[in-house]
Amino acid sequence: MLIRRKRGWEIPESRATPEAVFLNRREILAAAGGLGLATALPRFAHAEEDPSAGLYPAQRNPRYTIERDVTPEKINAHYNNFYEYSTDKDLADAAQALKVRPWTIQFSGLVEAEKTVDIDDLLKAMKLEERVYRHRCVEAWSMTVPWTGFPLADLVAYAKPLGSAKYIQMETFLDPAMAPGQNQPFYPWPYIEGLTMAEANNELAFMVTGAYGKPLLKQMGAPIRLHTPWKYGFKSIKSIVRVSFVEERPINFWQQLQSSEYGFWANVNPDVPHPRWSQASETVIGTRERIPTRIYNGYGEFVAGLYKGLESEPLFM
Ligand code: MTE
Repeated sequence: MLIRRKRGWEIPESRATPEAVFLNRREILAAAGGLGLATALPRFAHAEEDPSAGLYPAQRNPRYTIERDVTPEKINAHYNNFYEYSTDKDLADAAQALKVRPWTIQFSGLVEAEKTVDIDDLLKAMKLEERVYRHRCVEAWSMTVPWTGFPLADLVAYAKPLGSAKYIQMETFLDPAMAPGQNQPFYPWPYIEGLTMAEANNELAFMVTGAYGKPLLKQMGAPIRLHTPWKYGFKSIKSIVRVSFVEERPINFWQQLQSSEYGFWANVNPDVPHPRWSQASETVIGTRERIPTRIYNGYGEFVAGLYKGLESEPLFM
């Protein structure tokens, strides 16, 4: 990315949460809630104020669990990319300025009827589940995250696009008063991303509204973001306010900024280097282990078929 390349993954061991503590947190919270003890437990900024908190934790879908250890929440919560708030990785404090209620999502473009839905009404209309996904950034680091949300395919069905729609385009909010990074004119705000309709309807494409058994933290893109685990993380747009269905291929935020380095497809491939660094391996955030990167981030069996006949496209940038 066009960033100050800080070796931010070098988090001191002292900041890591022992795995067992973190994995038991849901059960502890559930038990402590009944005893009125929740305030004695570690808090993660403002999640408790979220009106959707009662919907979490959702049941884990065993189809989407993986062999890697989950990245501790405390580490994930202080290692984020959210340029609306900062180009530094530890932007948790800055992101608290994000106001997540009221929040609406507008459906526009090639749809049967344009409409706007309140996030809490949308959450009621969707069936939430938990999925543990690999999360691989183009900057060659990775995490493993227990996201909660619903398939993007369900959102597409809810929006009722016309048959002429070829792509889905998503947009982050635009509000420089709430997001200081948006005062930086160098970047093409608002952040936008897009997928083909076939990608959007692939079973892996996931609308994320929570993580670690509770509503999404602000720094992770509350109240609703995308996660496409077979693609580099920049496709996984945060804090979405508009979903449009279009005929023309969207030009995403990073592509607008530097099309020689970032493209539309952005599928993970260890054999196709970024122009400025190798993609052959990745640093695991939290352990600093260096592990080999896998084609489609290990999800080839789910997604490789999407790209048959598209071999002439730059599928891996
Ligand atoms: N969405 C918005 N609106 N703004 C951003 O800066 N960064 C992207 C993506 N979505 C970004 C965004 C990048 S580069 C990555 S790697 C992931 O979010 C990071 O998600 P995480 O902070 O939950 O790890």
